Amino acid sequence: MVNLVFLGPPGAGKGTQSSYIINEYKVVQISTGDILRSAVKEGTELGKMAKKYMDEGKLVPDDVIIGIVRERLKQDDCKNGFILDGFPRTIPQAVSLDAMLKDDLNISLTHIISLEVDDNLIMERLTGRRTCKGCGKVYHIKYNPPKKEGVCDDCGGELYQRDDDKEETIAKRLKVYHEQTSALKDYYKNSGKLYVVDGVGEVGDIYRKIKEILG
Ligand code: AP5
Repeated sequence: MVNLVFLGPPGAGKGTQSSYIINEYKVVQISTGDILRSAVKEGTELGKMAKKYMDEGKLVPDDVIIGIVRERLKQDDCKNGFILDGFPRTIPQAVSLDAMLKDDLNISLTHIISLEVDDNLIMERLTGRRTCKGCGKVYHIKYNPPKKEGVCDDCGGELYQRDDDKEETIAKRLKVYHEQTSALKDYYKNSGKLYVVDGVGEVGDIYRKIKEILG
């Protein structure tokens, strides 16, 4: 069973590695960032509220995010395992996650993987990221370019740059990460389930390291 939490700064490669894991391990990926971006695209009340925070590189309030994850984890497709990508991001989120897994679902996390990349590499990764409007596949203009510029290899969809992948917003997101999220490594350090993985190198090599951990 894989009930995984992915920790790591923005641009560490959490989404990229999750796409390999979900294919091989047949688990679901719960990306709070993706859920919020869908809400923004659909223009829901949640989306309108979240956009203000996301555009400024700030975290969406804990109670909103915790409510979203609580509902998502109750769905049947999570019973075979899940990856939490981008959650928890604060200590109160981690405490609530522990409570919902224990009290509501009677399950526990199997792995917490911290994917580590230095800040100086993050800027290049995120300013060069392009995402497919159709299927969500993630590319990089230098490290993982599509065969045809601006077009998804898999579905032919148009590639776009995320609103929060501007230099100024990336710098704010990194600051928020160091102030509020990096402490989670300490939170999980005595769990016996925390694994630190160097996120620098070839995507395939990093995935191999993750597979060794997941078994
Ligand atoms: P979210 O969508 O979660 O963004 P993030 O954590 O900032 O992470 P990213 O998606 O930017 O990075 P990633 O690690 O997935 O990297 P990727 O694989 O794409 O959150 C966005 C916003 O939503 C937040 O700022 C906040 O406002 C809100 N939010 C979300 N969750 C929240 C929560 N729990 N609480 C409160 N607010 C929340 O890779 C990046 C690039 O690098 C790609 O171009 C990729 O191709 C490339 N790349 C990947 N691996 C490699 C490699 N090994 N070598 C070279 N390039 C690589």
